[in-house]
Amino acid sequence: MNLPTTKKIHIFVAAIGVAFGLGNIWRFPYVVAENGGGAFVLIYVFLTTIVGAPLLIGEMLLGKSTGKNLIGSLKLLSANNKVLSVGFSTLVLILCLLVLSYYSVISSWVMHFFTQFIFGLFSSDFEPRLIFSSLKSQGYLQLLLTSVHLIITCALVKYKKEELLEKCIAFVLPFFTIVVITMAFRALSLENAIEAVRFFLYPDFTKISTKSFSAALGQMFFTLSIGFGAMVTIGANQYKDQSIPSAGFRLATLDSLFSLVAGLLIFPLVSSYFLYYDKVAGPELLFLTTPNLLNSLHFGTLLGVIFFLFLYLAALGASVGLVHTVTNNLAESKRLKNKNNYWIAGGMAWLFSLAPAFSSSFLKDFSFNGKPLIVVWDQVLIDWILPIVALVLSQVILYFVDEKKVKAEIQSQTPQNAHTIFTHWRFLVRWVIPPVIIFSMLLRLV
Ligand code: PFF
Repeated sequence: MNLPTTKKIHIFVAAIGVAFGLGNIWRFPYVVAENGGGAFVLIYVFLTTIVGAPLLIGEMLLGKSTGKNLIGSLKLLSANNKVLSVGFSTLVLILCLLVLSYYSVISSWVMHFFTQFIFGLFSSDFEPRLIFSSLKSQGYLQLLLTSVHLIITCALVKYKKEELLEKCIAFVLPFFTIVVITMAFRALSLENAIEAVRFFLYPDFTKISTKSFSAALGQMFFTLSIGFGAMVTIGANQYKDQSIPSAGFRLATLDSLFSLVAGLLIFPLVSSYFLYYDKVAGPELLFLTTPNLLNSLHFGTLLGVIFFLFLYLAALGASVGLVHTVTNNLAESKRLKNKNNYWIAGGMAWLFSLAPAFSSSFLKDFSFNGKPLIVVWDQVLIDWILPIVALVLSQVILYFVDEKKVKAEIQSQTPQNAHTIFTHWRFLVRWVIPPVIIFSMLLRLV
């Protein structure tokens, strides 16, 4: 009998390579700004603890218990129920591709900043504050860079370099954290920083709206990569260290901490350079604030190169995670099996990316309630569809995953506390997660 070959990296490294990305440093601050600051942050942290961590663990356990990706797991566990194994899986895979499409556009902005900062090293009149305004109007440039990003992503999947990239991200993450903390310290020394910290961390509940709960849920699912099937794929792999509960807890904690540090970097910049949080909110926030800071630093251009390089690597890891999830799932579906699936997935994401890539140029007049297309795209997918998908997934985990296997999994890693961990986990998945998601979605409709 062939034993499954054990991968050389730890499950935590694989999970962080996929989960860590633009969600932490690009999306988190802008969503916080749009939702009134501190109170939203508090809700977000609370939801990460009671919904995010248990569901993340549950998604990985789903893969671990079957040894298969989402499609294979659903087929097996639901006795080939077509609504789940075909309908639900198709929805999840389309969600992956639609998210990948606009994620690639934002990654293309990061790539552009990275290259511009490199050119800046050799130019005496480099002006980082102008990079974004000129990129914004150049739709074809955004599309070109998006295409390059998708080609790199698919090539990495084709040549099976995911693991290498995950290792690389886990290696640079501590350095990236140091860079962001250094920049945050500088930002915190600027005028009005205290006011910014107050906005970001003081929970003023009069500033949140009924939309804020689903926005916090969506952001939390997005940043932890829950609801995309990506964590099922990770759970299904044979990693060196199989401790799923501890990997899940560590990932949720580290991911939230990183986002909080990112907030401490961005918000002081908003108050120092723009004065009003809501006026600069939106996906441009990161790209409008950080160049100001970098411009004012002694080695700012070099720091900019490093910052955008690390950020691009993180974006690449997440994009590879999405393509990898789609192709692995398709490989489990008899009808859609094809050895060139990564190119097909990349091609579809490219087609979908035409709209967000042109959102700030040719399609700039298409706005909904004053929001540009790319923002609407992002919010519909993350604040609406993702929580619904996560709700279904929580029920799949609850009713189909064999409790004995979950218990055994926890027992094998933490024998002393296994019973307590298991009962708490099951309580949250059964009694807390579904009502919280449903309540947040209903509030959104009010
Ligand atoms: N978690 C990633 C981020 O924060 O940028 C986004 C992501 C990556 C979502 C991979 C889903 C996924 F499968």
